[in-house]
Amino acid sequence: MEEMIEVQGPSAVAGALPVYGAKNSVLKLMAATLLAVGRSTITNVPEIHDVTVMAELLRRLGCDVSYRPAEHEVSIDVPEELGHQADYDLVRAMRASISVLGPLMARCHRAEVALPGGDAIGTRGLDMHRAGLEAMGAQLSIERGFLRASADGGLGGATYRLGYPSVGATENLMTAATTARGVTVLENVAREPEIVDIGRMLREMGARIEGLGTTTLTIHGVPRLSPVTHRTVADRIVAGTWAFAAAVTGGRVEIQGAEPEHLSVVLDKLRCAGCEIDTREGRFVVQGPERPRAINVSTLPYPGFPTDLQPFVVALNAVAEGSGIITENVFEARWGFTAELERLGARVRLDGHHARVDGVPAHELSGAPVEAMDIRAGAALVIAGMAAQGVTEVSGVEHIDRGYEHFVDHLANAGVRVQRRIARGWS
Ligand code: UD1
Repeated sequence: MEEMIEVQGPSAVAGALPVYGAKNSVLKLMAATLLAVGRSTITNVPEIHDVTVMAELLRRLGCDVSYRPAEHEVSIDVPEELGHQADYDLVRAMRASISVLGPLMARCHRAEVALPGGDAIGTRGLDMHRAGLEAMGAQLSIERGFLRASADGGLGGATYRLGYPSVGATENLMTAATTARGVTVLENVAREPEIVDIGRMLREMGARIEGLGTTTLTIHGVPRLSPVTHRTVADRIVAGTWAFAAAVTGGRVEIQGAEPEHLSVVLDKLRCAGCEIDTREGRFVVQGPERPRAINVSTLPYPGFPTDLQPFVVALNAVAEGSGIITENVFEARWGFTAELERLGARVRLDGHHARVDGVPAHELSGAPVEAMDIRAGAALVIAGMAAQGVTEVSGVEHIDRGYEHFVDHLANAGVRVQRRIARGWS
């Protein structure tokens, strides 16, 4: 039976909200444990559906995985003999499955990973994952929907310059290079906090990586890595989501377990919108204004404004004073959810990778049934529903569950009139 999230607006957020480890880090940390035979443990693991998908993928590769959601911990026992195939059902359910490619190439010297196809936020190329591995001596081909890669005799160090600082390609190439013969230099790499986190774990496992957090990584291959216990970096996108919840609804939140230094551009923009923000180590407080001012935002690779927070800017501008232009530079097709926001009364005009949003007073938005099509858009629709008058019913809850731990419970604990319930069908 389909579930939905029902929010009764207007309903401001007021209270404390927790942040656990980053989805975009933990999935790759789990994949990277494949690099070392033995039991690795990852802590600060969020209780989200994608972790169960990655656990299943690792099990199918031969690992013994124990996921203890209540303890925010996952242990992975990696065998000597690993499988090397990631099937379509899992890759389709979770695109981050592609992140086993680098570890499998390092461990097995071959990998077969189903191609993910497109998703709700656009086509996502793999050309740099492929070209980087080819530079390291791998042969790649596409057969029957799988990307097949092999490197008889193992990968060798190479210099490869990414055409764009792709998060996924940087991670796959960095992990693949850890045990390659010789030195690998990766230029124009991504430097998101999640990449630094993965690089740190690899170092704790014995990898020799220099330049983490900069645009060039130098990796000296080592013969083997050892298992590790590692704490996942805080989820800056969840922290940002809670901050926008306060900004859009004129609420006040204390965000706990976060690393506000990973959000400096975002917090600057929220201050421009009229928020008061008090940052302390490990937590920060956001007080939203009575009515936000519209902001202009361009999404960019880190340290720029994250594309994953773009839908929240649209929601903020929808109720803001004035008009704001949002430019999406990372996933140009990431606008599907704006038609859902228009159902609440938002005024959005799209022009290629730009969106112009003309704000209206929040009481002019009225609740409606809307559909979440991806993780962040779903969360942004719930927040817009908190600002609108009346009931907003958000379907497609499974998308939100992929990336947010107990999203509804946390908001309800912070005073929001929100609940999950079974959708009413036709009778
Ligand atoms: C990751 C995050 C996602 C975030 C994104 C950008 C995970 C699970 N997902 O996605 O939440 O929105 O970073 O911060 O960590 N591209 C190519 N060729 C390639 C690789 C990428 O053309 O070989 C393009 C993609 O189509 C996209 C852009 O580069 O337009 C960014 O992709 P990338 O940085 O790789 O994002 P992901 O790793 O897919």
